[in-house]
Amino acid sequence: MQCKTIPSTRDPVRATCLIIPIDHEGKSFTPQIPLDEEARHWILELAQRGDLPKANASCLWIPLAGSSSAQKAKPRSSSPSATGRAASKASNRTSIELQPKAAEAASGVYRVLLVRLQAKDEQSETPNEKSYIDACKAVAKQLDDAGIDSAVSLLQTAAPKQKDLSWACSRLVLACRDQAYRFDVFKRQRSQQGKEAVSKGLQTLLFAVDPRKAKTVDLAIAQALALANGMDLSKDLGNTPPNICTPEFLADKALALAKSHKIQVQILERRQMQSLGMGALLAVAQGSSQAPRLIVMHYQGSKTKQAPIVLVGKGITFDTGGISIKPAAGMDEMKFDMCGAASVFGAIKAAAEMKLPIHLIGVVPAAENMPDGNATRPGDIVSTLSGQTVEILNTDAEGRLILCDALSYCERFKPDTVIDIATLTGACVVALGAVHSGLFSPDDELANELLKAGVESTDTCWRMPVEDAYQDALKSNFADMANVGGREGGAITAACFLARFTKSFRWAHLDIAGTAWRGGSAKGASARPVPLLMAFLQARAGL
Ligand code: BES
Ligand code: MN
Ligand code: ZN
Repeated sequence: MQCKTIPSTRDPVRATCLIIPIDHEGKSFTPQIPLDEEARHWILELAQRGDLPKANASCLWIPLAGSSSAQKAKPRSSSPSATGRAASKASNRTSIELQPKAAEAASGVYRVLLVRLQAKDEQSETPNEKSYIDACKAVAKQLDDAGIDSAVSLLQTAAPKQKDLSWACSRLVLACRDQAYRFDVFKRQRSQQGKEAVSKGLQTLLFAVDPRKAKTVDLAIAQALALANGMDLSKDLGNTPPNICTPEFLADKALALAKSHKIQVQILERRQMQSLGMGALLAVAQGSSQAPRLIVMHYQGSKTKQAPIVLVGKGITFDTGGISIKPAAGMDEMKFDMCGAASVFGAIKAAAEMKLPIHLIGVVPAAENMPDGNATRPGDIVSTLSGQTVEILNTDAEGRLILCDALSYCERFKPDTVIDIATLTGACVVALGAVHSGLFSPDDELANELLKAGVESTDTCWRMPVEDAYQDALKSNFADMANVGGREGGAITAACFLARFTKSFRWAHLDIAGTAWRGGSAKGASARPVPLLMAFLQARAGL
């Protein structure tokens, strides 16, 4: 999808659709950009009849010029021939002209999409953030449903007061890319259908902006596209079935990233983990015929040498629970147990495409949690890379076992900050649902940075405690610690387990068990918390 600005005064523009925000009275938010006379006429008529969209983020198509649907949808037969005037390309189109391509003109695709935004709350004349974002999503869906291939947006002229033009354009780019995302490589129908039969979707999205602002906005759009590319990668990895998305597959994906981007990759295999002493990671993998990997990705975008930010992502490519096996219902969703890893891949890719001036490292411990004859038993004791021993009381608490060794491994990077991202506990889903990711950090400053990044990206997290008072739950009679506490405070005791391996650096943990994917009919990876991570990294980069 190509996205860029065009001067708001240029004439004419090739597009099959113009997106115009209106307020509750049907007035355009963009008086400075004179509407096409025909469009204005239609809006006026529709307003008089009370036919304009009434609810926030509702949309209305106004077909113009020469389409048979336009004839049918005409507000009133007495209205002057819209068709005739538009077809004759009246010279009074002072600003943006819609020029259907020949083929599209024949089929009559030539229209305006009116988007109603909730405006005029007490303080301001502009919509609030949420209503603007809702409008972006509604527009994206309308364009997609209608099979529009190119559009010119004026939506950004209705940006919330607290936000700038760059933000407003980026939000629409992200909404359109999210709408355009498909995961249908495994659907036979797709490959059998003739290419022409399927709409290719939105190919071009243009933003009409003041030319003096074009450079800034184009940069923001490019950043939004980089974020969308990272999110798409994250979704693809999450959605890929577990018979294909194995630890080896993830390692190959990392090597592929190294080929296409300025990223260096290192893969550790079982032998190297053995000689390092990663007993916990190895224990999780030992019940599976899929060999584990430790994937390390380096992105060095800063000119000077600086201590890196390290992202560590839980990469359980399938979680049966092991010998402490999970119930059958919904177990397929445990293919998403590598979404933490997927978010690390997505963030590294996006950071490289944004050319962020930071030093970033991604670490992904990847393994499959299966219950075969070699699998760990409840009661087994393993020794971790840190030297601490762990009694595995529940083989389903495997995430913390692979993470603890990966976190200890981070010490060698002398990191500035380490953030781990994991679909770690069902308890976190109980606590926070699918709205916020759980944020755990003993460091107030880092926690606040992440909370802020969450708000900015609308990919929010909620801070939970990591306090010594919870550590007692992890007592073991036979080893330094157990791998589970009780049912109570399950997300917190999991974080407390990780805290025992992160004493030598600044650390935060994101539990994304509730936010990383959607279930039900919209089942699929969400790419969260890639937007949060990118907002955090952009802030660290001083952007
Ligand atoms: N991957 C699961 C956590 C999970 C469960 C995420 C459901 C999303 C939805 C994790 O490995 C796990 O099984 N955790 C256990 C921990 C328990 C045994 C202490 C859990 O949450 O039940
Ligand atoms: Mn588990
Ligand atoms: Zn798991």
